[in-house]
Amino acid sequence: MNKTGCLFLLGFCLLATSMFAAAADKGRLSEAALDERLNAVRQDAKATEAAIKTAQKVTFFCANCHGEGGNSNLPEVPNLAGQNSSYLLEQIHKFGDGRRRNEFMQGLIKALSDEEKVSVSVYYASMNVKPAPVVNQALAARGRGLFFKICQRCHGEAGRGSEKIARLAGQKFEYVTSSLKRYRDGTGERLDPFMAANTKVLTDADIIALATYISTME
Ligand code: HEC
Ligand code: HEC
Repeated sequence: MNKTGCLFLLGFCLLATSMFAAAADKGRLSEAALDERLNAVRQDAKATEAAIKTAQKVTFFCANCHGEGGNSNLPEVPNLAGQNSSYLLEQIHKFGDGRRRNEFMQGLIKALSDEEKVSVSVYYASMNVKPAPVVNQALAARGRGLFFKICQRCHGEAGRGSEKIARLAGQKFEYVTSSLKRYRDGTGERLDPFMAANTKVLTDADIIALATYISTME
């Protein structure tokens, strides 16, 4: 091979290497393409099974905080079990591009491949959440009243949400409490116009009542 050919090849190899590096590092599918991929996996039993297998390896690590099978034992860490898969993937997108802020989750999401992001969303959606037992009936009843007045029109009567609307039923009390305060107070960790509008009128006592009810919903 002559010198020019060799240099040409070397150039090609360097280009290919940098393209691969980009692919491994951030050259990822667009949000829309990943959402489509999630839908395709969900509609195909074999692909779902494969996704769950992939997720079982990745979620070994997530379980440190989100618990075995997605039922968290840490008050400030959300349950992922039973959560809607499109909502989970959307939150992964939001951590990924900084629309949702949590230093640890933001860093972690950057290390997940496209396939892993889709797989964990499918996996956690397939698990069952374990609601908290009802301890304070009066408080739960007050929360229920508020829930039906303000929240059920989006999150559904049973609090199970839909597609991109979060399931609330069975979510951790402390996590729900702090999330509602963040939306209401516009602290910046999470911003959402719908949730800002619908939490504006809530007092801290309302939030505690709502979170009490939500955590016990099946
Ligand atoms: C060190 C603890 C920790 C680990 C490990 C961890 N998470 Fe999280 N995760 C959190 C915390 C804390 C939050 C809540 C952040 C906030 O306050 O908004 C969260 C939030 C989430 C949410 C948003 C849930 C919702 O209801 O909106 C998703 C999705 C998520 N994590 C997925 C994962 C996945 C997938 C893994 C493993 C690859 C993982 N997490 C590992 C601590 C952790
Ligand atoms: C107009 C529709 C709408 C209404 C009404 C609404 N929500 Fe939401 N809610 C949303 C959307 C959309 C999200 C996802 C926002 C995001 O990505 O941060 C959300 C997210 C949440 C979350 C975060 C869930 C998680 O897993 O992190 C909580 C908690 C919540 N809502 C509670 C409530 C409560 C309690 C009420 C009633 C006081 C309420 N919502 C009313 C649309 C609504």
